Amino acid sequence: MASEPVNVNEFQELAKQVLPKMYYDFYTGGAEDQFTLKENVEAFRRITLRPRVLVDVSRIDMSTTVLGYKISAPIMIAPTSMHQLAHPEGEVATARAAAASNTIMILSYSSTCTVEEVASSCNAVRFFQLYVFKRRDISAQIVQRAEKNGYKAIVLTVDAPRLGRREADIKNKMISPQLKNFEGLISTELDCDEGSNLEAFVRAVYDDSLCWEDVIGWLKSITNLPILVKGILTHEDARKAVEVGVAGIVVSNHGARQLDYTPATISVLEEVLQAVGGKVPVLFDGGIRRGTDVFKALALGAQAVLVGRPVIYGLAANGEDGVRKVMKMLKDELELTMALSGCPSVKDITRSHVRTECGRLRSQL
Ligand SMILES: Cc1cc2nc3c(=O)[nH]c(=O)nc-3n(C[C@H](O)[C@H](O)[C@H](O)COP(=O)(O)O)c2cc1C
Repeated sequence: MASEPVNVNEFQELAKQVLPKMYYDFYTGGAEDQFTLKENVEAFRRITLRPRVLVDVSRIDMSTTVLGYKISAPIMIAPTSMHQLAHPEGEVATARAAAASNTIMILSYSSTCTVEEVASSCNAVRFFQLYVFKRRDISAQIVQRAEKNGYKAIVLTVDAPRLGRREADIKNKMISPQLKNFEGLISTELDCDEGSNLEAFVRAVYDDSLCWEDVIGWLKSITNLPILVKGILTHEDARKAVEVGVAGIVVSNHGARQLDYTPATISVLEEVLQAVGGKVPVLFDGGIRRGTDVFKALALGAQAVLVGRPVIYGLAANGEDGVRKVMKMLKDELELTMALSGCPSVKDITRSHVRTECGRLRSQL
């Protein structure tokens, strides 16, 4: 691309130019027919804005707090795996960009840099995302390393008892590198005769017997950190999560990489929020590509959003600087949306600032 990218989608184009096809496909892809992948983005387009005018917007304050930590804008970095496949500095570069953007990064359990390397590279507030292995002792050890290294919360991902069927990775015979966090504990370089080795690794190593009754109690017994659950899509599970005492919920369908034909996350956000009834904060991810998307998620009740792929596109295009630019783009777009919608602060963004499809149909009756 000759000129500097002016939006997140142009960063995706840059990433496509620089990444080997196998890795680009790994980062962009979704499960099976990729219905949900498209829906995550498309559903935002079906929500329109209801701006208010003649409000003093000479000062816009995007800052907010998540679990008591103040961040410059309600846009956090989602946990995504294996950043060194996108850039040699990997998660360290992403974490530095998070610190520069004054936001929270959630480090993936499947990171290519270690918990310690990321912690010592910057002073960003960091949360740690967890998958639970059959070998619980290994997962416990990693959680305790995260706690010792100043991570402020555990984000337990609950939508991956197995790996979704990502057909591009199968075709490309995608191979995971050895993940450094697990060196000396478990090999992540499983041999696999056909397809991607990721699926075989998850099947062999992840604990697919986890249940509500067991896992949160176990986690509380090994860490004092607050626990969030990531991957909630229904009011039933939202209620369960609150009952077992989580500190927060992330409405997520794993960027459409797990179960295809789940709805776009933005279309289930209100269902989850109603069930939660304000008892714990609700975060949101899936399909955020514009500041207007962030605004819509906030208007529907999310406390903050997480971004996954856009961060990787920035990282692939230009390392730490690329991630900084992606975060700045989203923040600048949100700031403009707030100004043009008559919302000088995040708390001024309300349900009445958006019209959803369901609201539109109702108004036509
Ligand atoms: C390449 C890639 C790797 C991911 N790895 C993880 C992971 O290790 N743990 C996790 O909980 N979610 C993971 N996710 C899901 C993200 O945390 C997030 O839910 C999703 O990317 C949000 O959608 P978006 O990419 O449209 O922003 C991954 C997503 C992508 C695209």
